Amino acid sequence: MLNTNRMKQDMIVILDLGSHENTVVARAIRAMGVYSEIYPHDITAEELKALPNVKGIIINGGPNNIIDGVAIDVLPEIYKIGFPIIAAGHNRALCDEKLDEFTSDEAAVEKALKDFVFETCKAEANWNMANFVADQVELVRRQVGDRKVLLALSGGVDSSVVAALLLKAIGNRLVCVHVNNGLMRKNESENVEDLFRNRLGANLIYVDATERFLSKLENVADPEEKRKIIGTEFIRVFEEEARKLKGIDFLAQGTIYPDIIESGTKTAKCVKSHHNVGGLPEDLQFELVEPLKHLFKDEVRACGLELGLPHEMVFRQPFPGPGLGVRCLGAITRDRLEAVRESDAILREEFAKAGLDKKVWQYFTVVPDFKSVGVRNNARSFDWPVIIRAVNTVDAMTATIEPLDWEFLKHVTERILNEVPHINRVCYDISPKPSATIEWE
Ligand code: XMP
Repeated sequence: MLNTNRMKQDMIVILDLGSHENTVVARAIRAMGVYSEIYPHDITAEELKALPNVKGIIINGGPNNIIDGVAIDVLPEIYKIGFPIIAAGHNRALCDEKLDEFTSDEAAVEKALKDFVFETCKAEANWNMANFVADQVELVRRQVGDRKVLLALSGGVDSSVVAALLLKAIGNRLVCVHVNNGLMRKNESENVEDLFRNRLGANLIYVDATERFLSKLENVADPEEKRKIIGTEFIRVFEEEARKLKGIDFLAQGTIYPDIIESGTKTAKCVKSHHNVGGLPEDLQFELVEPLKHLFKDEVRACGLELGLPHEMVFRQPFPGPGLGVRCLGAITRDRLEAVRESDAILREEFAKAGLDKKVWQYFTVVPDFKSVGVRNNARSFDWPVIIRAVNTVDAMTATIEPLDWEFLKHVTERILNEVPHINRVCYDISPKPSATIEWE
């Protein structure tokens, strides 16, 4: 039995009976200042008892709690553990008489939820990032003991926050591997190295795999094929590094709650996620460490700030996994890749100077694989264009363009034309999503 005395946060567990509103309920409870986590309906009593500081259980049904004509329910043993239990949601076919059921009136639901959390469960409103970090540090230490953890540190928000958290929990027993695939933004790999190795003292292995990635990508024009090569090559490089290291039992991942939702509720069986992940081969057996898997994106950022990561890292704009590879259109060539990288750096610098980096959701440049005629120094040129893209969105499913100021666009254009070789034209993409997507490939 775990010693739960040292945990700082109380927790309400939500058991998922196929409701689309689990996350709404979880966020409503967190908004009351109480931490909550969502688990699949078939969690066992033993697994539930092993969770720290559980104060009560909400069984959350929905219109989908019938599978193949049979109503699903939690295991009967769950009702016998002795935690306060409440049933929520509508159409619950198996609502036990002893359980209260929420009404559909919003105010009444909120009141019922509040009464349950504070009156029935006697939970304390002690959920905050300092307590979350303290609890996760404790949980990681219990899970890992004196063994070692491997982490692929891309420099993205999620993997960076995991790295900072694990560094606090287990120090040098965290081994970070940063793979530079040659498709990173300007200075990005150097910044990862500088922050984590030099400033935070992390045990970081830096692999410059630029040549390897670019030679695999040579003459490959199909966007999906490019993505596949980048993904597969990453796993190969990471796997080679993992094999060189001895005595690593754990693989840390920057899984966050939306990742779990997106891959279906079945994968929400996170209590048992000890299987192999990320396409790594079967013979590399790791147990998973996923300290952020119950956090939403905004909470991950708050966690990063709590851990002392720099603001610009925590609030950086989204960047696709295949990196600049999907912005250097068609078959990647080194001169065009450099043009994307340089023009992107100029655009980001100017966005920051104008304060637009805090306003616009995503902004970048694209270099297509066709040339156009121009004139420079009284001579004909035949060079590449750069396309600027700047969009706003909430969930990346739809997007609108940012109406950039004309003088600002002219200034950025001037810089790109003066500073980036082989570019003779700059365009601004004013297409919303749909009909376009955010990225060009
Ligand atoms: P699209 O182009 O589909 O992009 O409108 C939506 C959001 O997803 C990002 N994106 C990717 N992210 N791997 C990723 O990790 C990818 O292959 C990928 N493609 C697009 C894109 O930058 C945008 O934020």
